[in-house]
Amino acid sequence: MTKIKFFSGETVPLEMHKVRIVQKLSLPPIERRLEALNEAGNNTFLLKNCDIYLDMLTDSGVNAMSDKQLASMMEADDSYAGSATFTKLENTIRELFGKEYFLPVHQGRAAENIISRVFVRPGTIVPMNYHFTTSKAHIVLNGGSVEEIIIDEGLEVTSEYPFKGNMDVAKLQALVDKHGAEKIAYVRIETGTNLIGGQPHSLENLRQVREVCSKHGIMIVFDASLLADNLHFIKTREEACAGLTIREITRQISDLCDIIYFSARKLGCARGGGICTNSRDAFLKMRELVTLYEGFLTYGGMSVREIEALAVGLEETMDEDMISQGPQFIAYMVEELVKQGVPVITPAGGLGCHLDAMRFIPQVPQTQYPAGALASALYLVSGVRGMERGSISEQRDDNGDETYANMELLRLAVPRRVFTMSQLKYAVDRIAWLYHNRDLIGGLRFVEEPSLLRFFFGKLEATSNWQDKLLAKFRADFGDSL
Ligand code: F0G
Repeated sequence: MTKIKFFSGETVPLEMHKVRIVQKLSLPPIERRLEALNEAGNNTFLLKNCDIYLDMLTDSGVNAMSDKQLASMMEADDSYAGSATFTKLENTIRELFGKEYFLPVHQGRAAENIISRVFVRPGTIVPMNYHFTTSKAHIVLNGGSVEEIIIDEGLEVTSEYPFKGNMDVAKLQALVDKHGAEKIAYVRIETGTNLIGGQPHSLENLRQVREVCSKHGIMIVFDASLLADNLHFIKTREEACAGLTIREITRQISDLCDIIYFSARKLGCARGGGICTNSRDAFLKMRELVTLYEGFLTYGGMSVREIEALAVGLEETMDEDMISQGPQFIAYMVEELVKQGVPVITPAGGLGCHLDAMRFIPQVPQTQYPAGALASALYLVSGVRGMERGSISEQRDDNGDETYANMELLRLAVPRRVFTMSQLKYAVDRIAWLYHNRDLIGGLRFVEEPSLLRFFFGKLEATSNWQDKLLAKFRADFGDSL
């Protein structure tokens, strides 16, 4: 974001855009919020939007679009094959990433399906800095396995390390030595590492990974879904890159990778996704599956309007003012919460602010899902919807036993250019109040537990009447406030 100093000395992330279309929000009273929680089985995925004030579930498909994106949607050239709109996107990809071949897909996981089907064989390994749920699922579905080789700092909840998303290059070399390069399907680097708090990797780290891969003839597949945030962090945290433009950093990253794919629900503030590469061989192998699973090669399951918006959105991602808005708002939220002693992931990353439920409510054991309980409690006291990223998001093992997550996090996503500063202040205020009253929070237990993807559909109940007590304390402290 453009540097602007305040007379007051405050550091406030100042928006370099103005709001021209708005959506009315409502904040139902806490009594209604408790009812809504019960209806949703304490699962924030099952809440209805009409009961939510700030939707911080995800940044996926809910980023604000620019006037130029909306305008471009009106010019979309609709045809089954050969639309000019697709050519526009293909040219944008060529220009920004320097990749000759582009395949459109309907969203990020569709790209993962195609890449895994083509390159993962039973018994092969995909080393990665950290997994994302869908990326891992597709690799496993094709008989492969995932080796997470994030640097040790990556799993430390509080840290000052600027690039917690880096891959441990020595561990990568050790994996290759142990299994042999032919067993490695490819190395996957996830930029803006989602599940450990939107933490970035450095350009230097990617270069080191490239060196190892080139030595052994291993391909790098780069998940660029959260590239916008990571570009901002490379520019602001990596000294050697301070003099580079966002466009130059993008190009340098791209030149180090063999295949790049992304969810356009995140990157480019649109919907859809894509895969690009300079390898004609890889392109030809993946092309067949695009027509089989996604659609013809010039739309890939996306509407032409979304393709127009994506082409413009990718171009706008090269603007520092645009990509710094999210990380700066998140940093503001993280810093304010740290000041109040609330346990959050540090340093602030991209995507959102992540509360550490294990330290927030240590009285709730992992058997009673602390991250889920915190998501439920925060919605109750604020109407803010977050996403559980803990043991509920894991799956039971083959014996039916729980596999507990490394971290119990409540993710509060900050979709790009959507919320205002006062809304963030409201969220911080209610989180701080909840932290002061954390002793009142109890656990959850399943009442309906699907065997697959239980975090989407499962229903839970409070293990005691702790929610009634929290409601009573809210009323005592806030009177008739919503
Ligand atoms: N890769 C990363 C790093 C992601 O964060 C996501 C989606 C995907 C791939 C899959 O993309 O949803 O378009 O199929 N993350 C969403 C989230 C779901 O809420 O974090 P998709």
